[in-house]
Amino acid sequence: MKDILVIEGGQPLYGNVHISGAKNAGLVLIAASIMAEGETILDNVPRICDVEVMVQILNEMGVKAFWNEDDSLSIIPPATTVKTQTPYELAKKLRASNLFLGALLGRQGEAIVSLPGGCDIGSRPMDLHLKGAQALGADIDIEHGYIYARALQMHGSRVYLDFPSVGATENIMMMAVKTPGLSIIENAAKEPEIVDLANFLNSMGGKIRGAGTDLIKIEGVPVLNACRYTIIPDRIEAGTYMIAAAITGGEVLVENVIPTHLHPIVAKLQETGATVQETEQGLLVKGGQRILPADIKTLPYPGFPTDMQSQMMALLSLAEGTSVIVENVFENRFQIVDELKRMGAKIKLEGHSAIVEGTPSLYGARVKATDLRAGAALVLSALAARGETTIEEAIHIFRGYEDIETKLKSLGAKIK
Ligand code: EPZ
Repeated sequence: MKDILVIEGGQPLYGNVHISGAKNAGLVLIAASIMAEGETILDNVPRICDVEVMVQILNEMGVKAFWNEDDSLSIIPPATTVKTQTPYELAKKLRASNLFLGALLGRQGEAIVSLPGGCDIGSRPMDLHLKGAQALGADIDIEHGYIYARALQMHGSRVYLDFPSVGATENIMMMAVKTPGLSIIENAAKEPEIVDLANFLNSMGGKIRGAGTDLIKIEGVPVLNACRYTIIPDRIEAGTYMIAAAITGGEVLVENVIPTHLHPIVAKLQETGATVQETEQGLLVKGGQRILPADIKTLPYPGFPTDMQSQMMALLSLAEGTSVIVENVFENRFQIVDELKRMGAKIKLEGHSAIVEGTPSLYGARVKATDLRAGAALVLSALAARGETTIEEAIHIFRGYEDIETKLKSLGAKIK
């Protein structure tokens, strides 16, 4: 797979872009599908690298998973047990493979998953996931880089999360949905992807209430029956294209979105002077004459998403004034700063804050994508910059953005 993107900047973007299914809903629904009896068919699954790795992991665990001609994904677990250990070589490529902890424990009371190390954006421990597993009756051992979770008998229980972790909430929901008794998750994550997981599990006969609030109640059911389900659109992909319109001074209609999921992003975009109009097909974003500064604090949903922080920094680096960005979710998510500085941005770091002094223009340079969202932000800066930018390690971007080259080209971008 190619690993370099070259972008000639300075073109305002115009046109319509169709948003794909949500990566962060797709990954967890793929894991949850192993708990169902029969063939699950998932629609609107994005064809991105992370999804392909999840499909490979399923196949290695003895679960049939394959794409259909209509681009839907079929998942058929065997009637007997599934391999309880996730394959290390694949699992280490994808942090979300830790979602098999909940799916395997929920399905068969045993799971061996590789302990995901930290990644570029932070240490990312799993203590809350394990706290939930122990509360529901699992014994946990950590040896040789693996989590061994085993439960002779799972039982409903109450779990309070010290932080509304998305992954821990999802894993505990999957552990609890087939566990006898009532389980309650307090201070649960409220992201739209959590609601999508609950709706999916409930479509298969689960009894989950309160998803989308900080109190989720789950009454265990003996069986989940496979179904056909359509995944929600990707709010982070949508946000990225909305900023592409604003940063290039263009006009883009972002189609196939759920506007309520985008409220925090729309609010901040409007503060920077862009206009956002809701239409029948989606959101119409027009870049303003000027880009105005705005202060950002990342928070769990419905706060401003940390997955949009880098893209917003790219926009604010061209604002007429100074903005302060505070990253509250991941302790190491400012790696893009040095790369943006290579393009002429003026940014100073102070602990969890970045002080972004806007500059009239950026210029093309050779830069490196350090993670998925930093990569997307470099694409945005390159679209606005004067001259040519070469983005190395673009593989990070392909992990989470379906057909990004084709979509940007259809909006008039010069990208190869
Ligand atoms: C999910 O990661 C997303 N990934 C991330 O998107 C997203 O940034 C994140 O939620 C926050 O919205 C997927 O859904 C696959 P968390 P997750 O558990 O579940 C701490 C992207 O770019 N924490 O909510 O790993 C943790 O260290 C990716 O698409 C603990 O301390 O995030 C972090 O600081 C990047 N102990 C904070 O909570 C735990 O047991 C939020 O993490 C778990 C988490």
